[in-house]
Parts: sequence; C-alpha cells; structure tokens
Amino acid sequence: MRNPKNRHELVETKTTWLIVLTVIAISFGGMVEIIPLFFQQQTNEPVEGLRPYTALEMEGRDLYIRDGCHVCHSQMIRPFRAETERYGQYSLAGEHVWEHPFLWGSKRTGPDLARVGGRYSDEWHRVHLINPRDVVPESNMPSFPWLETNVLDGKHTEAKLRLFRDSFGVPYTDADIEGAEKAVKGKTEMDAIIAYLQSLGHALK
Ligand code: HEC
Repeated sequence: MRNPKNRHELVETKTTWLIVLTVIAISFGGMVEIIPLFFQQQTNEPVEGLRPYTALEMEGRDLYIRDGCHVCHSQMIRPFRAETERYGQYSLAGEHVWEHPFLWGSKRTGPDLARVGGRYSDEWHRVHLINPRDVVPESNMPSFPWLETNVLDGKHTEAKLRLFRDSFGVPYTDADIEGAEKAVKGKTEMDAIIAYLQSLGHALK
C-alpha cells in the first residue's frame, strides 16, 4: 500500500525514475570529486626536484613498456602504512606530471617499483634481468637476456623528446633534443632500462 507520507516511494516504485535519478546523483558526486583536481596546483605542478627523463631513460621506459614490465609491476605507492614501510614515501601526483602515459598500474605480481631507483647497484639489475634466479632464487620473474645484446640506434629518440616537449610541455631544451640520438646510439637496451630503473622515484626519496 502506498503511504502518502513516504515521498521516497514515489521514486522507489518507478524503475525508470530510480535509474535516472541515481545516475544524476552519482554523476554529481563524481564531478565534485574529480573536477577540482584539474585545477589544483598540487596535482598539476611538478614536485620540487623533478627532472625530465634523459634520452637514455626515455628509451629505457619504452623498453619497460615493450617487454611488459608494467604488467607485473605497479609504480604507485599508496598512502597506507603497510606500503610506506615497505616501499617508502607514498606516491604524489606531482611526481608524475611529465609521464605519458602513466605506468601506475595495479597488478603486483612483483613488488612496486616507484622508488626502486638507487636501491640496487647497476650490476645487480644486470644480473637480475638476465636471470632473476641468480640473485633471488625463489623468483618467478621471467628472464630478459636480449636486453644485454640488443643495441640502440637512437633513430627515434630525438622525435620522442620533441613530442614530449611540444605536445605535453615537458621542459626539454633544444640541446637535450639535438643531443638525444647521440646520447643513446650504441648503448645496449640493458643500459637504457637500468638507467630508467635507477631514475624511478628520484624526486622524492
Ligand atoms: C611475470 C611477472 C613479471 C614481469 C613481466 C616482470 N617482473 Fe620484475 N619481478 C617479478 C617478481 C615476482 C619479482 C620479485 C622477485 C625478484 O626480485 O626477482 C620481481 C622483481 C623485480 C625487481 C626487484 C624489485 C625489488 O624491489 O626488489 C625489479 C627491479 C624488477 N622486477 C624489474 C623488472 C623489469 C625491468 C621488468 C621488465 C623487463 C620486469 N621486472 C618484468 C615479476 C615480474
């Protein structure tokens, strides 16, 4: 029986209205949460100490994507005690303003890598990437031996840096861009990916 005093019933007994009003309520809530972030300095401005990736690190980042490292590793430390005790300072939006696309991820087959820079030596990474079991016997991370033998030609490096500057506003200088090919040519993919890994989290340690 309809109770004339219960105005909720008006909506709750009419499915279409219930759906329409629910969508409006959720959209409004979403807008209130999301839109201010576009205008907040804290989420748009680089944190102090942030620098753009060098040409070699940029190539390393592309290899990280090519070889699917991001499929098993996140780069996003959440603000929970269990995370900060293990990985360090939680991630801030301002550390990632020059990342296109973000590699935050959510799948953690392996540990988070947001602050792995400086945690191990270059040599540790080299051995680990060629065969993870040589340094972590119980590891189920795949081996990436080709990184050691594939050599970069740097053909597209200059264009990549230019794109990041012109389209995304990353502050590369003309000298950075002109020197990009030379900076990576002849280096191995291993050099590039290690340079990238060592740069992760550099702005906030
Ligand atoms: C199939 C999932 C998987 C993929 C793909 C993968 N990893 Fe891992 N990774 C792991 C696991 C599991 C561990 C933890 C065991 C170990 O240290 O080997 C790990 C550990 C690591 C560590 C050590 C982190 C720490 O804090 O101790 C680094 C660095 C790393 N991986 C880099 C990479 C890179 C670079 C790639 C891509 C070339 C990659 N991983 C691809 C699963 C993966």
